[in-house]
Amino acid sequence: MYWQWDPSLSVGIGVIDNQHQRIVEYINELADAMERKDRTAVGHILDGMIDYTLTHFAFEESLMERAGYPIVTEHKLVHQSFAKRMTDYKKRFNEGGDITRALFSDLQMWLTNHIKRDDKDYTLSVRKVLEEKSWISKTLSKFFG
Ligand SMILES: [Fe+2]
Repeated sequence: MYWQWDPSLSVGIGVIDNQHQRIVEYINELADAMERKDRTAVGHILDGMIDYTLTHFAFEESLMERAGYPIVTEHKLVHQSFAKRMTDYKKRFNEGGDITRALFSDLQMWLTNHIKRDDKDYTLSVRKVLEEKSWISKTLSKFFG
């Protein structure tokens, strides 16, 4: 296993922690496929990971908007720049580049910092929304099916 989830990454909201854990899983699957030098698998996992992460961002943004989180615009910009970096990696990969090392250190460092700083910051604001169980389940199924 490349990256082990640890409790310091918890934002104290189960539904968000689960999604972050899934992203960590993707990174481990990616590391595995890269070690096996299975380029086809790497491409598939990369696509899946980007897709899942964008969906997770959209869910987080809905939650922050519903809660009236004051700096949702700034948080969205951070998501956008990360999304752009990931698509750049995918582009480099498609062009035959070796993105392994850069991608891993970037992903791990970025996610750790983002979760610990930016995501933890919205937790107090969104607490009230979390009590709206029907809104949460409706929004979860809207994004994750
Ligand atoms: Fe975020």
